[in-house]
Amino acid sequence: SADGSGPSGPGIGPGSTVAVVGTGTMGQGIAQVALVAGHPVRLYDSAPGRAAEAVAAVAGRLDRLVEKGRLGKEDRDAALARLHAADELTGLADAALVVEAIVERLDVKQGLFAELEGIVAEDAVLATNTSSLSVTAIAGGLRLPGRFVGMHFFNPAPLLPLVEVVSGFATDPAAATRAYETAKRWGKTPVRCTDTPGFIVNRVARPFYAEALRVFEEGAADPATIDAALRESGGFRMGPFELTDLIGQDVNEAVTRSVWEAFYQDPKFTPSLAQRRLVESGRLGRKSGHGWFPYADGAERPEP
Ligand code: NAI
Repeated sequence: SADGSGPSGPGIGPGSTVAVVGTGTMGQGIAQVALVAGHPVRLYDSAPGRAAEAVAAVAGRLDRLVEKGRLGKEDRDAALARLHAADELTGLADAALVVEAIVERLDVKQGLFAELEGIVAEDAVLATNTSSLSVTAIAGGLRLPGRFVGMHFFNPAPLLPLVEVVSGFATDPAAATRAYETAKRWGKTPVRCTDTPGFIVNRVARPFYAEALRVFEEGAADPATIDAALRESGGFRMGPFELTDLIGQDVNEAVTRSVWEAFYQDPKFTPSLAQRRLVESGRLGRKSGHGWFPYADGAERPEP
């Protein structure tokens, strides 16, 4: 339909199992979302012990929701009873939807899905949370690429409503609709798009970061001034420098680089040398204690 809501169709049923592969930052958040929505959830990670750690991490987050009065104790207990770590990929056999959130490498993702195809049912939807790779490329080696779709969540997944539902060249519209309807049932605000570099948000956001970096590189204003201007008057919740300190300078630079490469090095997306220097020196942002700004332990805002 014209408003992008698409034909209504069934999402993944609430009783159906959702599998999450790769249980780092994003996998844990996505697992929490699916779990709270009522699904049995299975976690798999190739690093030994990591899926079990993710179970504990999700349990901790649900505890905090209970403390804040946003989740009942019984609901938490019921949710945790539905959450299981799998030691092997074969433990995901009953999944109706698999969401992959592993390392951002095409060959590794392709290898994972080739293996998964031999494990899950033929009508299971296979989804990738990739932020910068081509959905079409990841699906390239699949026997049944029609059921493959992008489900791009934003960090932190339990808090941010947007999910970009990305159709590759081979994606069956019915599979995209199932992903879309599932995201809606999970309380998210999905949007549909096709497979272009950066999809919608990560592409449109590039010039926001890039121009701020150029203003800084030209010596026109320092990062704190640029941030303050955009925060106080531009309607942005965070300025580009404090925001990339939160995201991680390395992560932000990698996305810029990937979009730039994917558009055949279109100068519009040229990465910033100043940001490169920052990454090379290990000033990655809050996670390393220093990015554009220094951070005291656990500080929410840059030190004055
Ligand atoms: P992460 O590094 O926190 O977690 C990745 C996990 O995948 C690790 O636990 C690792 O052991 C596991 N893993 C690696 N190779 C594996 C394999 N072959 N099989 C099973 N598990 C494997 O990474 P993060 O940040 O959660 O990102 C995951 C994916 O989500 C990437 O594709 C990334 O581009 C995408 N993404 C990341 C966002 C972010 O802000 N961090 C936002 C949206 C998407």
